[in-house]
Amino acid sequence: MTDFGIKLQQWYRVNKRILPWRLTRDPYKVWLSEIILQQTQVVQGTSYYLKFVEKYPDVQRLAKASEEEVLRLWQGLGYYSRARNLHASAQFIVNELGGVFPRAYSDIIKLKGVGAYTAAAISSFCFDEPHAAIDGNVYRFISRLKGIRTAIDTTEGKKEFAMVADELLNRDSPGEHNQAMIEFGALVCRPVNPSCQECPFNDGCLALAQNSITELPVKSKKVKQRKRYFHYFLVAKEGGVYLNKRTGNDIWKNLYQLPLLETAKKTSIKRLVDKRVPLPVLVDEKTHVLSHQIIYASFYLADVSILKMLEGSFVSVETKALKTYPFSQLIANFINERIGVRPD
Ligand code: ADE
Repeated sequence: MTDFGIKLQQWYRVNKRILPWRLTRDPYKVWLSEIILQQTQVVQGTSYYLKFVEKYPDVQRLAKASEEEVLRLWQGLGYYSRARNLHASAQFIVNELGGVFPRAYSDIIKLKGVGAYTAAAISSFCFDEPHAAIDGNVYRFISRLKGIRTAIDTTEGKKEFAMVADELLNRDSPGEHNQAMIEFGALVCRPVNPSCQECPFNDGCLALAQNSITELPVKSKKVKQRKRYFHYFLVAKEGGVYLNKRTGNDIWKNLYQLPLLETAKKTSIKRLVDKRVPLPVLVDEKTHVLSHQIIYASFYLADVSILKMLEGSFVSVETKALKTYPFSQLIANFINERIGVRPD
């Protein structure tokens, strides 16, 4: 084992957090945890992980659930394609793989929603396959340690980091090594205010020597955020409201929402609605920032006649049934505030 590997292992054994997915080698549970942690912090992800393993203790139980139920349990975590892929992959494992979770990296990576990082994480954590798992934490740690300025979101960067991570990989225990790399990036080599003074690698850290910690890692692209304007209408009906299921192939596919009119530009409600329809009353406005889009949402109280000018097929849902429907957090919060049904 290299000096680096020994030092990292020592650091990890003393400093690691006891996280629930670290107490198992069940690939189903590790997969679930890694999908949750793809775009979610440990503090927020932990309660969802625990809810999911309680409700779906194995891949068979997840496969048997309806997509709607899975989305409902996912509600609040965002990036809902993760939940749709998770559910579809569970069905694939049960129907096509005899219910046995694949062991090999090359088979794990074929699952929907699983990329190089997640396949390396699962195959190393559960089966000690020697694949370096490189998530955002690891990119940061390696870029600073080695002073690498190649952008991490380019093909060239990915190749270079994969080579360096592979050289650093402790082949005696790849699973523990990968966990340690991730944990080190999360706890010591943090995005802001890293603990360089206490870092066991500070004497060999190139970024620290060059005073370039804050510049690393480098990203080439500034993500362009598309602006979208959503006008939502709360149309009350005795004892309930109208909803419809989103069908478009985007982040909120298959989630329920209030009747919606989307515009590409900021537009006043007067210009949007037909003169024969009573003018909806604006009651709330929210901005929802996602990685690739910014949603400006306006919420109105409206008359039922508005439905005729909107797309979608609407169902009226009783207030007490609302808690079984999956919504985006934006909609869930509004419904909760206006109708008083706790969206949990
Ligand atoms: N982030 C992604 N995977 C993780 C893991 N297994 N433990 C802690 N944080 C993580």
